[in-house]
Amino acid sequence: MKALITGASSGLGREMARILAPRCETLILVGRNTERLEALKDELAAKTRGTVETVAADLAKTENCVALHEAYPDVDLLINNAGFGDFGEFSETSLEKDLSMIDTNIKGLHTLMKLYLRDMVRRDRGQILNVASIAGFAPGPLMATYYATKGYVVRLSEAVRRELKARHSHVRISILCPGPVATGFEKTANIGFHFNGVDAKGVAKYAISHLDRFYIVPTAPIRAARLLMIPLPAVVTAEIIYRIQKGRKG
Ligand SMILES: NC(=O)c1ccc[n+]([C@@H]2O[C@H](COP(=O)([O-])OP(=O)(O)OC[C@H]3O[C@@H](n4cnc5c(N)ncnc54)[C@H](OP(=O)(O)O)[C@@H]3O)[C@@H](O)[C@H]2O)c1
Repeated sequence: MKALITGASSGLGREMARILAPRCETLILVGRNTERLEALKDELAAKTRGTVETVAADLAKTENCVALHEAYPDVDLLINNAGFGDFGEFSETSLEKDLSMIDTNIKGLHTLMKLYLRDMVRRDRGQILNVASIAGFAPGPLMATYYATKGYVVRLSEAVRRELKARHSHVRISILCPGPVATGFEKTANIGFHFNGVDAKGVAKYAISHLDRFYIVPTAPIRAARLLMIPLPAVVTAEIIYRIQKGRKG
């Protein structure tokens, strides 16, 4: 298998790389932090007979996404994982950080998904795992932009899934929708989760072992939260999320 993971230098991406390495002939690790990518490559080289390659690229820039696809076309598994959030009131958070988040979480993911999906549809095989979040199912006061970016990932993936079905395509698409996980996310987003032990390794293991599902929602409480949230009006979920979020400033 040839797999490509974005955001592989840390957190969920790194843990998914650790699980996939022994199964891959070629594993491509993408992120901006060269040092961490190279350290992971060295670690994984000992665990796989295949090749591990690293690409340092800022996926907020469309031209880097296009160049990545040109350099590594025809992967069997794309894990569109790179992303980040930001905590605070919308009127006060940085516009620059918001736009960079939109460029990474939406535009970068969208570009890679489109380019790789075209390859996969042509070959009638392959899988894309888009890393969304439980945040993709509700409005997210105090993380408004982040929740909106994840809502985009959920809706885009749900729609494309239906198109693939209409084509009788063998290409699979899934979305990973975790709740809070202990990664570098909190620091980047200026948030403190006070979560109870959901670790990145467990979430990654759950994700990779449930690739046959469309909605991959690790942990029973988060699965229950998603099912409870779906029928509620947005005004109610916004109120609930606001109350949860307001104690989370990092
Ligand atoms: N942790 C959570 O609670 C949680 C919950 C639900 C969903 N998620 C989602 O899970 C995904 C992974 O996040 P994480 O929790 O593992 O956080 P993390 O430890 O901070 O990892 C984020 C990864 O994304 C990469 N990245 C960020 N911006 C990038 C850019 N412009 N270009 C290329 N790579 C970029 C980072 O690499 P470099 O810094 O090397 O560029 C890093 O490898 C994200 O999409 C996040 O929204 C996280």
